[in-house]
Amino acid sequence: MAANDYRAYLRNHIDMEEAPGRAAHTGSTHRALIFGTLAVMGLLQVASSVAILLHLTGYLREVDLASAQRSPNEEMHSETLIADPLKSFKERKEKCRLKKDTRMPSAHLPIKTPTNFSAKNRNALTMITWDDFQGLNVKMRYHDGRIQVDEAGYYYVYAKTCFRYAEEHDSSKEDVSNVQLFQYIYHEKHTQSVITPILLTKSGGTLQWNIAKYNMYCVEQGRGIQLNNGDGIYVNVSNAWLLDPAADGTYFGTFKISN
Ligand SMILES: *[C@@H]1O[C@H](CO)[C@@H](O)[C@H](O)[C@H]1NC(C)=O
Ligand SMILES: *[C@@H]1O[C@H](CO)[C@@H](O)[C@H](O)[C@H]1NC(C)=O
Repeated sequence: MAANDYRAYLRNHIDMEEAPGRAAHTGSTHRALIFGTLAVMGLLQVASSVAILLHLTGYLREVDLASAQRSPNEEMHSETLIADPLKSFKERKEKCRLKKDTRMPSAHLPIKTPTNFSAKNRNALTMITWDDFQGLNVKMRYHDGRIQVDEAGYYYVYAKTCFRYAEEHDSSKEDVSNVQLFQYIYHEKHTQSVITPILLTKSGGTLQWNIAKYNMYCVEQGRGIQLNNGDGIYVNVSNAWLLDPAADGTYFGTFKISN
């Protein structure tokens, strides 16, 4: 008890003695605090401006990563600095992205039926027309046998054509002892003043279809190519009268791979 009282007395005594000195001391501490706070606020202003700049120039992710690795205390500071202005930026950016159709252009079209190709002019080339109502078409156009490009880029172009012949279905008994079955994919450049089609790829064969009662032969081709706005692609075949009208037998398509 006595020891406690003595300690209390000592404390009071020391407090009283130091009082005047401390008043002056706390005054300068306040000033230092105010200057310190102002300096910190200034720094925060600069830091938030820099943060917005970094965000706009695409450094946001790196900043986020770096702050995740910092100490919790520091992280809290940078969070309050960066989070608010950047959050709204992020949200706006997200909204823009959702509104924009980010799908790659593509088309896949089955042959237009009923087909009505004549058995005359057998080896003359015939352009196939496609059914754009039955097929898929994303950001591409279809016109008069041609798939047309709306968005320039590097595309993969493909086509499959099946030819078939059944003796019993041929009332006119056509000569099929030597049929040439060829498929050609052409590219029409929009920029040309006189459009001259460029052959992209060809394939096929010559077959003797007078031996078996039922015959079928399919040609499938594909390749990559740079296409520009307004360019068209189309498919010509020989002996179009033998084309298989099934959607899974004869189709034409393309899809964009990159810019
Ligand atoms: C098929 O084409 C021929 C001429 O090549 C024409 O006379 C005939 O009317 C056409 N049939 C159909 C269903 O379009
Ligand atoms: C493709 O066939 C059409 C007839 O349908 C013809 O007018 C055109 O010239 C052919 N294209 C080529 C490059 O032979």
